Amino acid sequence: METVTKGLFINGSWKVKDRGYPLYAPYDGQLLAHISKADEGDVQEAIAGAHQAYETMRKLPAHKRAEILFKVAQQLKERKEEAARLLSLEAGKPIRTARAEIGRTVTTYEFAAEEAKRIYGETIPMDAAPGGEDRLGFTWREPLGVVVAISPFNFPFNLVAHKLGPAIAAGNTVVLKPAEQTPLSSLLIAEMFQQAGLPAGALQVVTGSGRELGDALVSDDRVKKVTFTGSVEVGKRIKSKTGLRKVTLELGSNSALIVEPDVPIEKIVPRCVEGAFAFAGQVCISLQRIYVHESIYQPFSEQFIRRTEQLRVGDPLDEQTDISSMIHTREIERIDTWVKEAVEAGARIGCGGRREDSVYLPTVMLDVKQDMAVSCQEVFAPVVSIVPYRNLDEAISMANDSNYGLNVGIYTQNITNAFQAAREIQSGGVIINDIPTFRVDHMPYGGVKESGYGREGIKYAVQEMTELKFVSIKTQF
Ligand code: SIN
Repeated sequence: METVTKGLFINGSWKVKDRGYPLYAPYDGQLLAHISKADEGDVQEAIAGAHQAYETMRKLPAHKRAEILFKVAQQLKERKEEAARLLSLEAGKPIRTARAEIGRTVTTYEFAAEEAKRIYGETIPMDAAPGGEDRLGFTWREPLGVVVAISPFNFPFNLVAHKLGPAIAAGNTVVLKPAEQTPLSSLLIAEMFQQAGLPAGALQVVTGSGRELGDALVSDDRVKKVTFTGSVEVGKRIKSKTGLRKVTLELGSNSALIVEPDVPIEKIVPRCVEGAFAFAGQVCISLQRIYVHESIYQPFSEQFIRRTEQLRVGDPLDEQTDISSMIHTREIERIDTWVKEAVEAGARIGCGGRREDSVYLPTVMLDVKQDMAVSCQEVFAPVVSIVPYRNLDEAISMANDSNYGLNVGIYTQNITNAFQAAREIQSGGVIINDIPTFRVDHMPYGGVKESGYGREGIKYAVQEMTELKFVSIKTQF
């Protein structure tokens, strides 16, 4: 890959900065590009441009917004392989998984295009209350203005689409700050929006990192909404800086799965292994804690470990690779420390438990206690624990014993138990007869507790990126 210098995307032009940083592939350290670093002045310029472009965007009819989004989806379809390779290189995502993400991203933009055409209001039966006679009441939804979107490295195409798609569908403008590790995907998408005819300034992309940059983005009064996916720590900081502005926070989890004794183990183990290790566990709903009924704990664990040992580790661009590098050496060191601490406190390693260059081997842990970091913190790494339980009440209580609550799964053929779990589990989503690592892009997605608040999923995100306006007309003088 040719090394290029990439600029910020401001007011429809590329602005290359003197200040920048080299972007390396996490798998083999090859230099991919030089990325411009935005400073506070660039943020001001981007927000001012987005604020001005809002005057154009708010008047753009829904069918035009839909057309732009459809054109982005179409370009991405045509350039699918190029986009997948870019993603694979900059994130270390295995190429088959990268292609799947591009496929989902196309769907997400298509959903956004469709949603642009159905942002409905409703009529209110005004005479239901005394004093409301002879009045017509109705609502519509208005865009907010400038939306700041801060996106993570793990789904650099699709999680960006979950922010840009609904924001543009609703008629907002966006200042996007992609993760510093994966800016190339966002810069490619900016190019596509430009070609699709998005008015200049309606999408600004500022690359770089650091507190000053983040604070400048989220504390500007012209910004009407911040949508963020990332860590709890940064989420809390954003919340403290945004005052009364709307915020959506998607902050990850230590997702749990309950496996009841009435399910065929051999049928679900491959799916569970996939949920624990896809993209090296660097997924907010990665399967991290598996609670298995004690009567099937032994065969389940054995089959799970056997299947894990068959995963192929290697170059993300190799078609055969299941697991590749983690995003940064720092992250490998963190997870290695957590695994070692757990072992010192009595846990056992079923397989894995060490690094090979930039890859942390898929790791299964047994005899894990709830208070060990590999259980109670978000591992965001290819590490899963399998823990036995005696009855469903105990399993639900262990699943709920968490600061997080994004998706939780349960496998059971018993409808009563399934509904008990759906009712009692504290999370944004309960996934019955599948792993928690399940998401299609139009379903409501978001968490409770420290997993954040607000919902993505295009229709739901559009609601959060619009303001409900009420209009009343008195029909008699
Ligand atoms: C996430 O990691 O937050 C997103 C997971 C997904 O979209 O599949």
